[in-house]
Amino acid sequence: MNLLCLTRFPERVLAPVYVTVPTTTATATSREYSPLDIFRSNKAQNFAIEGRNLKFSFTTRQTQDAPVLRDCSIRIPCGQFWMLLGPNGCGKSTLLKILAGLLTPTSGTVYVNEPKSFVFQNPDHQVVMPTVDADVAFGLGKINFTNDEVRSRVSRALHAVGLSDYMKRSVQTLSGGQKQRVAIAGALAEACKVLLLDELTTFLDETDQVGVIKAVRNSVDTSTEVTALWVTHRLEELHYADGAIYMEDGKVVMHGDAASIRSFIESRQSAYINQINS
Ligand SMILES: Nc1ncnc2c1ncn2[C@@H]1O[C@H](COP(=O)(O)OP(=O)(O)OP(=O)(O)O)[C@@H](O)[C@H]1O
Ligand SMILES: [Mg+2]
Repeated sequence: MNLLCLTRFPERVLAPVYVTVPTTTATATSREYSPLDIFRSNKAQNFAIEGRNLKFSFTTRQTQDAPVLRDCSIRIPCGQFWMLLGPNGCGKSTLLKILAGLLTPTSGTVYVNEPKSFVFQNPDHQVVMPTVDADVAFGLGKINFTNDEVRSRVSRALHAVGLSDYMKRSVQTLSGGQKQRVAIAGALAEACKVLLLDELTTFLDETDQVGVIKAVRNSVDTSTEVTALWVTHRLEELHYADGAIYMEDGKVVMHGDAASIRSFIESRQSAYINQINS
């Protein structure tokens, strides 16, 4: 049962070291990427998520301090939907867990607007109450809301994720994607400002995949406060994003608009295919 607390409840973050630094979001180009690019600017913007020079190592029985993140810097403007991509094992989930406060970086600074919520990949880990409305209201129990306020928040959150007609449905009868949307509605009902979403569409068929991604897009669009960071391997999902970050081997390789990141990854993939075919 407490798993839900992990997924939905605000987590501890390091104290903000900076909140707003004047900048524009760098546009991805083929020139060499410098982590400092995203902090250079000529325009003031508010950022919901900022990580500077983040490093992280796991210590295992076999290896002392195996480096996973090597100097990652990212920043994501408030009210936008961004995606994080990169090959298996490059450190995407580790970075997301640091932003969620589930892991502490070895060095570097992190600031994430609160409250924030981390949604896991497995839909069956997201929902615990018997009905949809009870599940969305679950996290509100710790706040002293009136019944009317709870009902109104649940209703608005379910509307944002396109599940208004499912309020009284048993969660056991939902598809994987619908369960993910119920989990997102739970975060929205608690007025979460940042959604951290780790490969939600991996186990879903195409219809469910599109349903979840549109739910996140709509949640961001219908609020001025919600910012989402979505980890994915699916390039076609970049169509829904305002911006994206591409990582390799524990480093941020590109950080910019979604279309440019998509072209960059596609050119990377075709160069790799040409190389193995030659
Ligand atoms: N608990 C852990 N202990 C030791 N090493 C770990 C642990 N969790 C992850 N790692 C290692 O850290 C590296 C980055 O893992 P991470 O899960 O962040 O990658 P990822 O980019 O999310 O990969 P994927 O696309 O497969 O989900 C990998 O080499 C992984 O083996
Ligand atoms: Mg991962």
